[in-house]
Amino acid sequence: MPEPLLPPSLETQSLGTQSLMTAAYVRRRGAAASIEVGRLPRPSPAANEVLVAVESVALNPVDTLVRSGRYRTNLPLPFVVGRDLVGTVVRSGTAVQGFSTGGRVWCNSLGHDGRQGSFAEFAVVPADRLYRLPDGVDPETAIAVAHPTATAYLAWFVHGGLRPGQTVFVGGGAGNVGLAAVTTAALAGARVVASCRPEDFARCRRAGADAVIDYRDPALADHLTDRAPEGVDIFWDTSGHTDFAAAAGATVPGARVLITAAPGAATSGTAAATTNVPLAQLYTRDISVLGFVISRASVADLAGAAGLINRMLVRNQLHARITERLPLEQTASAHEHMEAGTVTGRILLHP
Ligand SMILES: NC(=O)c1ccc[n+]([C@@H]2O[C@H](COP(=O)([O-])OP(=O)(O)OC[C@H]3O[C@@H](n4cnc5c(N)ncnc54)[C@H](OP(=O)(O)O)[C@@H]3O)[C@@H](O)[C@H]2O)c1
Repeated sequence: MPEPLLPPSLETQSLGTQSLMTAAYVRRRGAAASIEVGRLPRPSPAANEVLVAVESVALNPVDTLVRSGRYRTNLPLPFVVGRDLVGTVVRSGTAVQGFSTGGRVWCNSLGHDGRQGSFAEFAVVPADRLYRLPDGVDPETAIAVAHPTATAYLAWFVHGGLRPGQTVFVGGGAGNVGLAAVTTAALAGARVVASCRPEDFARCRRAGADAVIDYRDPALADHLTDRAPEGVDIFWDTSGHTDFAAAAGATVPGARVLITAAPGAATSGTAAATTNVPLAQLYTRDISVLGFVISRASVADLAGAAGLINRMLVRNQLHARITERLPLEQTASAHEHMEAGTVTGRILLHP
């Protein structure tokens, strides 16, 4: 059943003395072109929430999935798009302790499961989803790396069970999630083999990859076995183009294959109809295929990720690849670019 449309102009509604703010929002799930930038009521924090003045937001593939309805989740309407923000504390709810007015904070889990999004001048954030930005850390860098690095944390430490000395494969190693995956695995003491284009080999090596392979090489599976003769403990193609035959051939018994994306799922393209999975090679060697999505991560796991991210930021171990900085007014075209698959690196927007 279609969701009801709101009145054409929210500004014409009687808002009494309530303050307004600029926000990028949709009146219902739909195409990128349906994103409007206009004035909405400024939210007030409930007892367990903090009101944040937003400085920068980062665009993620999942933002387009939530907006379009391809990732189904409960949304308040009108819905402010986006899930990540960095900003400063304006006011804390009555039950909140530990955040001081004017302090820099970040969040990476708004905009789904009933929570309003982040692409606005102000946002309310549940206190247990808000993290202090350490002194001296660049806010743009922090919000650019937050979502990919939190995904890498969940992959290695929550779902993958990574231990020092293990060998991992990271497909799409030069992408946002891929670079975070390479960096965090290498720092955790893993041996990392990554796939990317040759022009990105140096980028992956700088992030900590011990060996790199061109993902377009038809002999990728052989090269992987050559580069990791000891066998791969965790196989994760962050691009979603999981080569299960390569995974089955290159992994040790008991290995884990992590799935966090599917071909075409993050763009407006059609997902691949089938994926060949050599089931016998997987089950006879105790190999697990584990999927997860950060949207379902617990508050505790997200806080664990945030702690790691803050520690790595303080040590200058996370490097942002910010390729565009845009005003909030360009949210719709930024979503269109992402759905066309033409975005490299991170897009930040500023209210
Ligand atoms: N499940 C979760 O919790 C979760 C969390 C975050 C993101 N995601 C998903 O993860 C995916 C990647 O996100 P991202 O931000 O890292 O995207 P991204 O920055 O565009 O990175 C994708 C990378 O994959 C590479 N690639 C393209 N085709 C490939 C292939 N056939 N084999 C290996 N690599 C290939 C790309 O290389 P080129 O530049 O050479 O094309 C690019 O470097 C998206 O679908 C996103 O929705 C899921």
